[in-house]
Amino acid sequence: MLSIIILAAGKGTRMKSELPKVLFEVAGKPMISYVLELAETLNPERTILVIGSGSETVRKRLEGEKITFCLQKEQKGTADAVIEAMKLVPKDEPGKVLILCGDMPLMKNETLKAFMDKSDKPINFISVNAPDPKGYGRVVKAAGGEVIKIVEEKDANPYEQKITEINAGVYYCDVHELRKRLSKVTNNNAQNEFYLTDIVKGGANAYQHDDYKEFTGVNDRLQLAEAASILWQQRAAEIMKAGVTIMDAKTFYCDGDVKIGQDTVIYPNVVIEKGSAIGKNCQIYPGCRIEASFIEEGCRILDGTLIENSFIGAASVIGPMAHLRPGSKLEGDNRVGNFVELKKTGLGKGSKASHLSYLGDAKIGANVNIGCGTITCNYDGFSKYETVIGDEVFVGSDVQFVAPVEIEQGALIASGTTVTRNVPKNALAIARVQQDNQAEKGKIIMERNRAKKR
Ligand code: UD1
Ligand code: CA
Repeated sequence: MLSIIILAAGKGTRMKSELPKVLFEVAGKPMISYVLELAETLNPERTILVIGSGSETVRKRLEGEKITFCLQKEQKGTADAVIEAMKLVPKDEPGKVLILCGDMPLMKNETLKAFMDKSDKPINFISVNAPDPKGYGRVVKAAGGEVIKIVEEKDANPYEQKITEINAGVYYCDVHELRKRLSKVTNNNAQNEFYLTDIVKGGANAYQHDDYKEFTGVNDRLQLAEAASILWQQRAAEIMKAGVTIMDAKTFYCDGDVKIGQDTVIYPNVVIEKGSAIGKNCQIYPGCRIEASFIEEGCRILDGTLIENSFIGAASVIGPMAHLRPGSKLEGDNRVGNFVELKKTGLGKGSKASHLSYLGDAKIGANVNIGCGTITCNYDGFSKYETVIGDEVFVGSDVQFVAPVEIEQGALIASGTTVTRNVPKNALAIARVQQDNQAEKGKIIMERNRAKKR
C-alpha cells in the first residue's frame, strides 16, 4: 500500500508574500497542483498534504481535491512534518511511503516510477548533481559509495560544501523503517529543526537522477521564474511536435490544458491561457492574449488583440487591437477590426465591425455591416439593456443605438443617426439635423478669428 506525503507547511519566507508559497502560480497553475496531479498518477492509497502557514487559504483553494489535510501547527522541520503526517497512516498497515515537497512543480511521473522501481532499501531518496548546489542538502558518501548522511548547507563544513551531489527532497521508504528512524531524529543542528534528512543515517540508497532541473525547488521568485520558463518551454516543444509553428518559443506563454491545431502559426509574444482551444490553420500575431476562449480553424488574430471567454467561428479576422470581452460569440466569417470592443455580443455569420466601435449586450444577425464609430448605449447608470439587430442590416458610420432597441432585418441606418426607437424591416432610419450651407459665412468667421489672434 502506498501513502504519499506532500510537505507544504513551510512559510515560504523567501517569496516575501502574503500568499502561501505553494499557491503561487507557475505557468498557469498553483505549484502544488502539479505535485498533486503527479501524486494522483501513482494511484496511492492516500495523499496527505501537510499544511501550516496560511493553512486556511491552502485548504480553501484545494477544496474538493482527493487529499487528506494534515495540520502541522508549528513548523519545527521537515521530519516533524512527516511525523505529523504519519499519524494519519494506520499504525500497523504495511507498505511504502513516498515523500514529496509541495514546492517542486517540475517532477515527472516517469522519474518517480523509475526511482520507486529501483528502490531496493528500506530508505531511498533521489539525489542529483547540481552545478550550483547552494542552499541544498549535500549527500556525504563513504569511499565505497555508501551514503553516510545528508548535511544541510548551514551545517556543512567547507569540504562538505564543495559536494555537488545534492538531496532532491524525494524519499521512498518502508513504512515501519520510516517510523523507526523518525523517532530518532533530533533538532541538534544549526537551525534547531527536525531534519527529515536524518532518516538516511543508518543506511539508505541514493538514486541518482541526471536532470537536476526537474527538482528545482521554488523558494524565491527567481526560482519561480525559472520553473515557469522551463514549463513554458516544455509546452512549446510539445505543441511544435504536434505540428504548430511557434516563431519564438521563448516568448510563447501557454497554459497546460490549451489545445492548438495543426499548421497554426504563433508569432512572438503570445499568451494563451487556460481553457482555450485554437483550431487548425490559424495565425496568432504578436502581442495577443487569449483567455478561456475557443477559436475555430482558419482565423487570423491580428496584433495586440485581447480575447476573453469568447467563441470565434471559423475564418474570422480579429484585430489589430480588438478587445473581445466575456460572452462574445462570433458565428464565423466575421471581421472585428481596429479598436473594436465587444461584450456579451453575438455576431451572425459574415457580419463585420471593422473600426472603432463598442458593441455591448447586442444580438447581431448575419451579414450585418456595423459602420465605423458605432456605439451601443447599453447602460443608463443602473441597468444594462439589449440591442437587437436583424440579418442584412447596414449601419452607417457614427451611429448610436440607445438600448433597448430593435432593428429589423434589412434596415438601413444612416450615418450619424442616434437610434432611440425600433426600426421596422427594410426601413431607412435617419436622425440628424438638416445640413445648412450658408454662403461665404465660413470665410467670414475664419478671417475674424485670424484677426483676433493677431
Ligand atoms: C530541503 C532539504 C534539503 C534538500 C531540499 C530540496 C531538509 C532538512 N532539507 O531543504 O536537504 O536539498 O529540501 O529542495 O529536509 N516544510 C514543512 N514543515 C516544516 C518545514 C518544511 O512542511 O516544518 C515543507 C516546506 O513547505 C517545503 C518542504 O517541507 O515544501 C521543504 O522545506 P524547505 O524549507 O523548502 O527545505 P529546504 O531548505 O529547501
Ligand atoms: Ca525547498
